[in-house]
Amino acid sequence: MHFQGVKTVPGDPIFGLQELYHNDPAPGKMELALGVYKDEHGNTPILNSVKLAERHLQEHERSKSYIGSHGDPLFNELITRLVLGDDSPLLAQRAAATQAPGGTGALRLAADFIAHNLPGRSIWISDPSWPIHQTLFAAAGVPVRHYTYIGDTNQVDMDGLIATLSQAPKGDVVLLHACCHNPSGFDLTAQEWTRLLEVIKRRELLPLLDFAYQGFAEGLEQDAFAGRLFAEQLPELLITHSCSKNFGLYRERTGALIACAATGEQLQAIRSQLAVAARNLWSNPPSHGAAVVTHILSNPALRTEWTRELESMRQRIFGLRHDLVEALAAHDLRQLFEHITRQRGIFSYTGLSAAQVKRLQDEFSIYMVGRGRANITGINSAHIDQLASAIASVCEE
Ligand SMILES: Cc1ncc(COP(=O)(O)O)c(C=O)c1O
Repeated sequence: MHFQGVKTVPGDPIFGLQELYHNDPAPGKMELALGVYKDEHGNTPILNSVKLAERHLQEHERSKSYIGSHGDPLFNELITRLVLGDDSPLLAQRAAATQAPGGTGALRLAADFIAHNLPGRSIWISDPSWPIHQTLFAAAGVPVRHYTYIGDTNQVDMDGLIATLSQAPKGDVVLLHACCHNPSGFDLTAQEWTRLLEVIKRRELLPLLDFAYQGFAEGLEQDAFAGRLFAEQLPELLITHSCSKNFGLYRERTGALIACAATGEQLQAIRSQLAVAARNLWSNPPSHGAAVVTHILSNPALRTEWTRELESMRQRIFGLRHDLVEALAAHDLRQLFEHITRQRGIFSYTGLSAAQVKRLQDEFSIYMVGRGRANITGINSAHIDQLASAIASVCEE
């Protein structure tokens, strides 16, 4: 017998919550846990621009043959431009992307690259962070350390962040959320990014920017601020990009790892390593989602349509954040929750405690993640007052 010793491990707690939610008969139940964008009706829709691109592909795609370990060169170029900007001097020979199965695939590729080519380096991850950061790098054999990010008062602890990273051994890797920090929703200001950059230079750290929400915070161009600042100021940088959220392509597994190197020659050496790592991980990336993105980004009418759709998702999040705080203000809770309007992206560290989250679930059938993380897009505007009064009731002592 071979499998007798295999132990059952707990699954993702969010999927457990999903099951509880689905089995909950309460009519006004709310699902604010899962990490996908939801529209007013609770659906994660296929964008119209994606549908149109898929129609085009159905007519014009000529082969399902392999696309190579780096993926489609045109997709890679378009994503690099989207992230670094059309006028980036790095485009000539210092930056290039490798297509990967989603942002997770891009992170795993980066992790393998670091494990094999930068042995002995640890990766520093924000506390808290998206839980997969920790498990993914550990699984690839990269030691994981943590830097302070959110303090006890539910805001960015910039001094703590600078203090921990100032102690990081020279050469270590630091993973940063380019925008829409998951799980907190708290991002750095332009000034704070500049302050962090100084530490990165001083400690000779290698930044890895996880860019999973471009277009969800302030806009497509504005959200690229940190990546472009770092690309301009540092010789070397890694960026992972995900098309799951901004193109709504979650299950199509579409993303890229962008490597920025000091010279064209070094970039080619890195890319040779990435091709080998990708070959061992998944051989070739899946093609469909990237083909959709390529068609959208290279067709002016579709690109305009996509930009409009992305902007309307962003505006909806922005509106929900404001409406929720206004509804809470009616219960005299503005001060306690005003930070929700300063956070960005789909997630919010509401500031509710684990005990309050439990009460929301038990007494009001409102489902959030333990430390008070809510997916803002799970809120239906018709139920916002109901949500605010439930929160008010668990905030009463
Ligand atoms: C911070 C962060 N990084 C990366 C990802 C990976 O996204 P995907 O692999 O679905 O493209 C996510 C998805 O939730 C995320 O929140």
